[in-house]
Amino acid sequence: MATKAPVEKKCKEKKKILIVDDYLPTRKLILDALNQFSQYEINEAENGEEALQLFHKNNYDLVISDIMMPGMSGMDLLNRIRETNPFTAVIMITGNPTTDLTVNAIKKGAVDFLTKPFDIDDLLYKVDIHLREKAMLVGDSAEKIIQQGMLKDKTTELSKQGYIFDSIEDSPLNNEIIFEQIAELALKLVDGEVCSILLFDEQDNEFHPKVIKGGKEEANRNYAHSPTLRKVFNEVIERKEAIVINSNKHPEIAPSLICAPLMIRNTILGILSIRKKKNREIFSKNDLHHILSLTKRASLNLENKILYESIYSNIMDILKSLISSVQARDDYTEEHSQRVTDMSVKVALSMNCSAKDVESLRIAGILHDVGKIAVPDSILLKPDKLTLEEFLVIKNHPTIGENILKPVILLEKERKIIQHHHERWDGKGYPLGIAGNDIPFLARILAVADSFDAMTNNRPYRSAMPVKEAIEELIKNKNTQFDAEIVESFIKIL
Ligand SMILES: [Fe+2]
Repeated sequence: MATKAPVEKKCKEKKKILIVDDYLPTRKLILDALNQFSQYEINEAENGEEALQLFHKNNYDLVISDIMMPGMSGMDLLNRIRETNPFTAVIMITGNPTTDLTVNAIKKGAVDFLTKPFDIDDLLYKVDIHLREKAMLVGDSAEKIIQQGMLKDKTTELSKQGYIFDSIEDSPLNNEIIFEQIAELALKLVDGEVCSILLFDEQDNEFHPKVIKGGKEEANRNYAHSPTLRKVFNEVIERKEAIVINSNKHPEIAPSLICAPLMIRNTILGILSIRKKKNREIFSKNDLHHILSLTKRASLNLENKILYESIYSNIMDILKSLISSVQARDDYTEEHSQRVTDMSVKVALSMNCSAKDVESLRIAGILHDVGKIAVPDSILLKPDKLTLEEFLVIKNHPTIGENILKPVILLEKERKIIQHHHERWDGKGYPLGIAGNDIPFLARILAVADSFDAMTNNRPYRSAMPVKEAIEELIKNKNTQFDAEIVESFIKIL
């Protein structure tokens, strides 16, 4: 595998790194990757306790630790490391980056994250960059440390939020969930008590609560309708700027409040308002900075989603009408597409595919035979076995399907699945004859479901095969026609 070498250091002293993971293959993977470079001195530990013992004996520059471990968890280890040496950079490895986990780890001082399965280049880049940051911090005077620490806080904050947002962006296309996640994130970032997102209706000049998180329900209802707040909201709308209000000026909004606009292009979509009550602290400038970067990113995120959804639903309508026109000639195609989609989605879920991948498979499954629109009735509906020439016409359908989707940039991934759904593991499929892992994973899933469904249903030229026989057929063709791992998962879900 090609890897980026970390930039040569002037200092010849080796950097000490500790790898902590209870899972040997992950430890070995990281160890092998880092061992390519002579400037690292690496130790490994299989649990938090062992790591801590090593940590007390050695002065590590960087620790890479799994979060989920039996005994002492990665989070506990992070705490203990921070207590002992606040300058050691700690990168956390997570299998499933939830917002809670990420915010927690950031608050406890983790500098970065690796999400399993991770890319070696990404790992090397992160190790290099954090070791250099650490060298900058520790190698200078105390004054500089503070200045650079503050600078580092600001520059890394955005990337941390970016990371949190990645977990939001991974969620399915559902704006309700996004609003909830934004409110939760806002509460966590600035230790707020209540966060509300209100959508602004320009026509009736009203604010409609979309999400209220935290606080007591009754108080929340009144809160959203308070005349004082209404005045503040109007000011935010008018100025299109965030406002911080502390209780010394406005005792009725006790004790501290931030209101920030959510904008799409130059139009106000709504307001995010967050209130603090806990210990009667007030919001700092830094809190405002956090909320502003959050609302900016949230606005962009919502804008993209809304734009995406409207284009996407138009395109899907057009493509569905194409599928219906195939179905008008051949009942089999639509029912077949639906069954193949259902089975493929189940397999993808059982193989831990991401929500985005499952969504892609759902679209590609429905559309996979859209290219059959170009196959004449005489061939598509032929009750006898096809001639070689006729079969060549049928074999064009993945390419035609791919071409139909070509102008739709949004469906790039789905297009590839459609193009390759008749490829074979051994490379003897069509249209390109690519093999093994070169075939997109989701296309390999679709291929298994597609073949199984074709075998177990009546076709114009032959009658359905019993399920048991079809399963035997799949097993027989593992590693020749099909990806063996997918066949196994498929049989399990059957
Ligand atoms: Fe097909």
